[in-house]
Amino acid sequence: MRKKVVAGNWKMNKTPKEAVALVELLKDKINRDDVDVVLCVPAIDITVVADAIKGTNIKLGAENLHYEDSGAYTGEISAPMLDEVGAGYVIIGHSERRDYFKERDDAVNKKILKAFEYNITPILCVGESLAEREDGITIEKIRMQVKKGIKNCTDEQAAKIVIAYEPIWAIGTGKHATNEQAQEVCSEIRKCVAEMYSDAVAQKTRILYGGSVNAANSAELFAMPDIDGGLVGGASLKEDFAVIVNSAV
Ligand code: PGA
Repeated sequence: MRKKVVAGNWKMNKTPKEAVALVELLKDKINRDDVDVVLCVPAIDITVVADAIKGTNIKLGAENLHYEDSGAYTGEISAPMLDEVGAGYVIIGHSERRDYFKERDDAVNKKILKAFEYNITPILCVGESLAEREDGITIEKIRMQVKKGIKNCTDEQAAKIVIAYEPIWAIGTGKHATNEQAQEVCSEIRKCVAEMYSDAVAQKTRILYGGSVNAANSAELFAMPDIDGGLVGGASLKEDFAVIVNSAV
């Protein structure tokens, strides 16, 4: 039985003060030992959120990292920096980073391997555009992103990685994938992990759905056989996130 993961992706929202206020609002409403609840927050909020979640079951995550340990990379954050402040998770290859910041699959793969070096669990994001879905190449696109993204992992790492299926057309649009559409792709992702590693590994890999998850649709999506939770953007910035977490069974 895979433990569910519900992760919030705050994106570029919440100043440090606002971040603490949101954690204060959420923490009494979230008390699940059986779900990994993760807040992936902007770099500047990481240390204050680390303090604010002390004594709770909430885990801390970042939204990106660089694949080198240190160096002349103005504006970037490294895995050892995240490790020192207690970030246990990091989102890698979100479609916004791929699109606006031109992140490519080879960099995504290097970032994943670097995160593992510091025992930080990567949340790899994959997803097709509307045009790709309409052209009938959704599965090809997803398989390519998974194959390039998680290559060269050990079996243990491939079992530990979290993969979030986030159709680009569903992100921030209020138009989520149907339960069946999400299940179909998440099941393909699991098959792909099985081909690359083994069925035993793929049975452990946690695969999430993301894209307009909200308090009204999360329970049904998370109940699909290959969907092990969600990556939540907009709805993670408010009290609804607690409802979404608590809808995971
Ligand atoms: P959304 O974002 O929930 O606001 O659609 C999800 C994401 O981009 O991770």
